[in-house]
Amino acid sequence: MRTQVGIIGGGPAGLLLSRLLALQGVDSVVLENRSREYVEGRIRAGILEQHSVDTLVAAGVGDRLRREGLEHSGIHLQWPGTRATLDFPALCGRTVWVYGQTEVVKDLVAAQLAGGPPLLFGVSDVVPEDVDTDSPRIRFTDADGAPQVLGCDVVAGTDGFHGVSRGLVAGGGGQQVFERTYPYAWLGILADAAPSTDELIYAWHPDGFALYSMRSPTVSRLYVQVDPAERIEDWSDERIWDALDTRLALEGWSVNRGPVLEKSILPMRSFVSTPMRRGRLFLAGDAAHIVPPTGAKGLNLAIADVTRLATALVRLLQDKQTDLADAYSDAALARVWRCTHFSWWMTSMLHRSGDEFDARLQLAQLERVCSSEPAARELAENYTGLPVEA
Ligand code: FAD
Ligand code: PHB
Repeated sequence: MRTQVGIIGGGPAGLLLSRLLALQGVDSVVLENRSREYVEGRIRAGILEQHSVDTLVAAGVGDRLRREGLEHSGIHLQWPGTRATLDFPALCGRTVWVYGQTEVVKDLVAAQLAGGPPLLFGVSDVVPEDVDTDSPRIRFTDADGAPQVLGCDVVAGTDGFHGVSRGLVAGGGGQQVFERTYPYAWLGILADAAPSTDELIYAWHPDGFALYSMRSPTVSRLYVQVDPAERIEDWSDERIWDALDTRLALEGWSVNRGPVLEKSILPMRSFVSTPMRRGRLFLAGDAAHIVPPTGAKGLNLAIADVTRLATALVRLLQDKQTDLADAYSDAALARVWRCTHFSWWMTSMLHRSGDEFDARLQLAQLERVCSSEPAARELAENYTGLPVEA
């Protein structure tokens, strides 16, 4: 087998990269080690920045997003006794969209299978080779158990945090890893319940952070801060709803309950691995960086990375110009660090550490964000997503 770009990982980053390349006449093959059902069912992100929506629409995979996505013009920030609203269009002229990552992936898979480049599910033993040369290869075992070799001009490592690509970039030398683990986790539920809020609610509470999000007019997505050592078995649905009631409480308002469709505990970390390239192997998305979800940035960063990478690879493979490929890692990392800071800042402002001095600082910061226009604008600009520069 031979292609121009061998893409490892069929998450949002790999699938969108393949789509963007195809639209510009560059061939690719996507290798995914899970099944289609698994990839399409993985419940993760829910918020798309304006530039992510624009990118998906321009890539021809935005029809359902425009029909079923919910445009949101702000968020509520809450602490006991106060629920404040940030109006994004007034602050920065942009909005965000609620549209689940599951739906983004389904749309991309459907487009790929309807005459797009090959997308192989259920592969195993994926090993990129010779990435320091101009003709790298990817060895893998296909879904029928047959060994295969995919020859290519470039390899894209979009295989997420637990993939094989980042380790290979590290083997090239000069790699630096920056990491922060937080003493918090999120317990998340998906519930068959109409959201009782118009906008997402990010709530500071003495018991810990809570977030009220949604997936549709009839499905809610909610999170509570828990200790990372907590076990999901110890959290009955009743206990979770009670914690949400307490932490999101506001006079005359309540959380809508309904059957819990899914629940899980997610650890939180910040992680950046530099550079995002070794020779002809380029990293994008969670393969290179992770942010805690408080800023709703992970999926959006993955989309920003591959938008930049697609342009660089078209220039490299069609025009034989290396400038954008050479600039890719530094340029992508500038956005990664901005988003890493914003995600850390939101996390630090909203999660209870147990320390009373920290609590007073957090409340002072929340008051500031909700009473000063420049402070609110700083949050709004970051949350809705800074423009992607070429
Ligand atoms: P992934 O989605 O991890 O995809 C990588 C793919 O590679 C997977 O399909 C995997 O199966 C495959 N793979 C792995 N190893 C191999 C291998 N060896 N060979 C072949 N294939 C391989 N982000 C936001 O922007 N907004 C949010 O609101 C938000 N909320 C989140 C909430 C939760 C609970 C979680 C967990 C994450 C959230 N994120 C959010 C982050 C977001 O989900 C990720 O940043 C996003 O999935 C990154 O996409 P990706 O394609 O880079 O990686
Ligand atoms: C979600 O809906 O899953 C979601 C929304 C906002 C966040 C994180 C997750 O900051």
